[in-house]
Amino acid sequence: MEPFGHHIYICTQNKPDGIPCCHKDGAEGVVGRLRQELAAVELTDEVQVTTCGCLGLCEQGPNMVVYPGGTWYTGLKPDYIPRIVKEHLLEGQPVKDLSLVDTGAAKAEIIAHNQKVSGMKAIMAKAGVIPDELNRYFRGFMESRLVLSAVELDFFSVIGSGATAAQVSVAAGTDQRATEALLNALVAIELLKKEGENYKNSDITASFLVSGAKHDSITATLHPAKLWHRWSTLTDAVKAGTAVSADRGSRDEAQTQAFIAAMHKTAGFRGKMTVQQLDLEGVKHVLDLGGGSGAYTIAFLQQNPEMKATLFDVPAVIPLSEVYIAEEDLSDRVTFMTGDMVNDPLGEGYDLVWLSAICHMWGSDQNRELFSRIYGSLNPGGRIIVQDFVLEDHKTAPRFGAIFALNMLVNTQAGSSYSQSEYREWMKTAGFQHIVLKPLPGPTDLMIGTR
Ligand SMILES: C[S@@+](CC[C@H](N)C(=O)[O-])C[C@H]1O[C@@H](n2cnc3c(N)ncnc32)[C@H](O)[C@@H]1O
Ligand code: FES
Repeated sequence: MEPFGHHIYICTQNKPDGIPCCHKDGAEGVVGRLRQELAAVELTDEVQVTTCGCLGLCEQGPNMVVYPGGTWYTGLKPDYIPRIVKEHLLEGQPVKDLSLVDTGAAKAEIIAHNQKVSGMKAIMAKAGVIPDELNRYFRGFMESRLVLSAVELDFFSVIGSGATAAQVSVAAGTDQRATEALLNALVAIELLKKEGENYKNSDITASFLVSGAKHDSITATLHPAKLWHRWSTLTDAVKAGTAVSADRGSRDEAQTQAFIAAMHKTAGFRGKMTVQQLDLEGVKHVLDLGGGSGAYTIAFLQQNPEMKATLFDVPAVIPLSEVYIAEEDLSDRVTFMTGDMVNDPLGEGYDLVWLSAICHMWGSDQNRELFSRIYGSLNPGGRIIVQDFVLEDHKTAPRFGAIFALNMLVNTQAGSSYSQSEYREWMKTAGFQHIVLKPLPGPTDLMIGTR
């Protein structure tokens, strides 16, 4: 018994330059139109659409197969979709003039294609050609770098509703020849579009990388741009066992703003969802340690009208936190504390100490010591809740947490990603009981201990 009336597989595979594929033939446009038409006729819950890899007819793409029946549609264009939805999906009649008729020839072509691909792989393996999956790692930085440079140069804002390379270079104060090369590469990776000599933002850059856009993320994006430089010191950091970049640990005002904006983007989205997962019965006073923008303080207080909060952070950050909290009209329920959490008193009388994205900044000994001081700051029955990348005990998963350990290596003296066992040990040593891991959707989890 099939769970859906129809199940559609549509190929969106992208292949290296020079090799035909459905992505290059506009498969995403076809998928977009399909979803749009299904929604228009209220079939979204009845038709399962699965984008998939190569179906073997790459020179005739974009291709899709509709089940039951296994009807193949090849060489699709967005404009064909309304007929397929109406005649095939609504009225049950496959559209003959758009579907594949000679299935025998198609099968032979697919088999020949499969043999060609496996034959090619065998030849490359024999010749010792570096495979794509390895090359991807060697050269992946190029795409990352060109996007970050375009953000640093504010090209997407300068382009606005459209501009030539000459106009962009004048407005951005850059070299015209180099500007054109960078803009062309951005078109190649589909972040920009080019019409004649005019460059235009794609939907995604218009939403996120244009100054003043609804989801303007330029300031937040400048944080990974800074990380890019730090990551280029990884080789030496691995030799030294600690961060080696000259500006380690320091941030000027603009960088602090970028960092806090980046944190706020992530935390603003996760805060509400995370806080909803917690039983906060009896929590009257929360300490948001290293609270940054205050995104979690905001989530705690908005969900619990009786609660008050203390937001603790370094002096450079607190003025930024004050603005974010004031924007939510919560200033009268928040006490701001400036200090160094490693050395300065944390206050006392809290029912909850919340540490989100904090422990990875410190070494094991610092975390053990910090947890003891947090224990002393809590009321009996109070809880410590850590939100962070919690690794499995072998420390090779989850993938992002394992990679993030290196982000902390290049950025801090002794920071890292830690395993559940390590968190348990620090909490136990500090005196916490009922220590539990609470998994969350997404890359971070919670570790909870009770005094
Ligand atoms: C990774 S951010 C996390 C911010 C926030 N908790 C969140 O999850 O969005 C780390 C925060 O700790 C603060 N911080 C770093 N070192 C600190 C220290 N020694 N004492 C107090 N706060 C510190 C930073 O300024 C920053 O706001
Ligand atoms: S890439 Fe789509 S069928 Fe091969």
